[in-house]
Amino acid sequence: MGKCKVATLLFGVFFALCCIELQVEARASSSLDREIETKLKLLNKPAVKSIKSEDGDIIDCVNIYKQPAFDHPALKNHTIKPIPSFLLEYEPSSMSGTPNASSEVFQLWQKSGSCPKDTVPIRRIQKKDLLRASSLERFGQKPKIYSTNKTNLNSTILGVIDDYVNLQNRSEIHLSTFGFNFIGARANINIWNPNVEKKGDFTTAQIYLKASNGDFFESIEAGWMVHPELYGDSNSRLFAAWTRDSYHTTGCFDLTCKGFVHIASSTALGATLRPYSSPYNQQYEINIGIYSDEGGNWWLNIKNGTVIGYWPKEILGNLKHSATIVQWGGQVYSDKVKKKPPHTSTQMGSGDSASTRFGRACYMSNVRIKDYSKYLKYPKFITTHADEPYCYNYFNDVEQGKDPVFYFGGPGRSPPSCP
Ligand SMILES: *[C@@H]1O[C@H](CO)[C@@H](O)[C@H](O)[C@H]1NC(C)=O
Ligand SMILES: *[C@@H]1O[C@H](CO)[C@@H](O)[C@H](O)[C@H]1NC(C)=O
Ligand SMILES: *[C@@H]1O[C@H](CO)[C@@H](O)[C@H](O)[C@H]1NC(C)=O
Ligand SMILES: *[C@@H]1O[C@H](CO)[C@@H](O)[C@H](O)[C@H]1NC(C)=O
Ligand SMILES: *[C@@H]1O[C@H](CO)[C@@H](O)[C@H](O)[C@H]1NC(C)=O
Ligand SMILES: *[C@@H]1O[C@H](CO)[C@@H](O)[C@H](O)[C@H]1NC(C)=O
Repeated sequence: MGKCKVATLLFGVFFALCCIELQVEARASSSLDREIETKLKLLNKPAVKSIKSEDGDIIDCVNIYKQPAFDHPALKNHTIKPIPSFLLEYEPSSMSGTPNASSEVFQLWQKSGSCPKDTVPIRRIQKKDLLRASSLERFGQKPKIYSTNKTNLNSTILGVIDDYVNLQNRSEIHLSTFGFNFIGARANINIWNPNVEKKGDFTTAQIYLKASNGDFFESIEAGWMVHPELYGDSNSRLFAAWTRDSYHTTGCFDLTCKGFVHIASSTALGATLRPYSSPYNQQYEINIGIYSDEGGNWWLNIKNGTVIGYWPKEILGNLKHSATIVQWGGQVYSDKVKKKPPHTSTQMGSGDSASTRFGRACYMSNVRIKDYSKYLKYPKFITTHADEPYCYNYFNDVEQGKDPVFYFGGPGRSPPSCP
């Protein structure tokens, strides 16, 4: 056999192998494409009008009765609830702002248009969002909390806070209250734009209302967040989230799954907030309130009387009755926390230490709970906790005659204290 023939033969074999490989790849990619197309059809609802935002978002104005919530089997016959009148009384009152801070906060997409009456603005999930997700199946969900130790889980729920070390990949700071039945909570949170080191990490400033659901906990949450994997950029965005099983199978952020009933036509979940606070300069804050009505639905209110929508009782477990723990604070999710160095450099809050206080640090002010007395009040009993105080810390500023302010945050990796 001549050298040329061998070469031809080898080339043939090589070519054939190549072809097979290409075919396999093509088949794989077309099945992924199909999966993505199916998922997008499920997630996005037909729009009456679409608005292109400067940050690359597309906001779809969807008929209020065509929103994702109505795909939930328990909500098939649901009629949208009227806004409880107490909500409109609480929030516009002068008590809701922090002195020297501004609540004149808006969402970037609002510069480019508005949604007509009877429609709700929904951030469209685009193909690129799904391609970026680490799991298609869990798109939009918070990472699960595993508890192999039920004692720990129960004590977490009950607020015995020193068990948080067992929660992997999460570094948290909270002000917590528990031991009563809560039917509402609020706070003002100033908006910052902390750095997130890498895809998969995220950082939040938020309120949680939780209840125990047997072996799992149930939670409804809202605040602002930087989550590049979910949103595709580093903007600080308004978010809401829920779960009734420690994020295992139920619940998600925003409207990325069925459940939350959105009613505000002016404000979208998952959309970019502006302006951000700046050091030694104007502080901008969102005023977040979450309140239960008499029927067991939980309402989300921001700013001065913008009722975003509600978590209907049909999707809730024990939370229908009341929350047993309320927490205010920050969370950094990363696989580089609570481990050997290097720690993630994903920041919490403003990225500055809590001790820098007003003008530099992230805060929760006007912290209130509502109990069966129906009045908003500062919680009678509080605890504070930081998972990794050398990386992220807090300062609860309680001064005689002044309303307490809970400062929290930090830079993450910052040797030598947080190597
Ligand atoms: C919705 O209404 C139909 C007809 O009245 C009823 O059969 C069905 O059980 C209801 N579904 C739910 C989830 O309530
Ligand atoms: C708010 O501004 C006033 C007037 O500029 C100042 O006297 C006061 O100390 C400020 N308060 C805080 C909390 O910064
Ligand atoms: C309160 O809401 C109204 C109407 O949405 C708005 O015009 C006003 O600027 C808001 N005020 C504050 C302080 O946010
Ligand atoms: C579970 O947690 C409790 C309380 O922190 C601890 O005493 C116990 O040893 C833990 N059990 C296991 C199996 O880790
Ligand atoms: C945890 O709490 C649930 C009810 O909230 C209870 O049924 C269960 O027995 C508790 N588990 C432990 C280990 O205490
Ligand atoms: C923590 O993150 C790593 C890397 O993403 C992952 O493999 C691990 O399962 C996570 N741990 C928990 C308890 O979620």
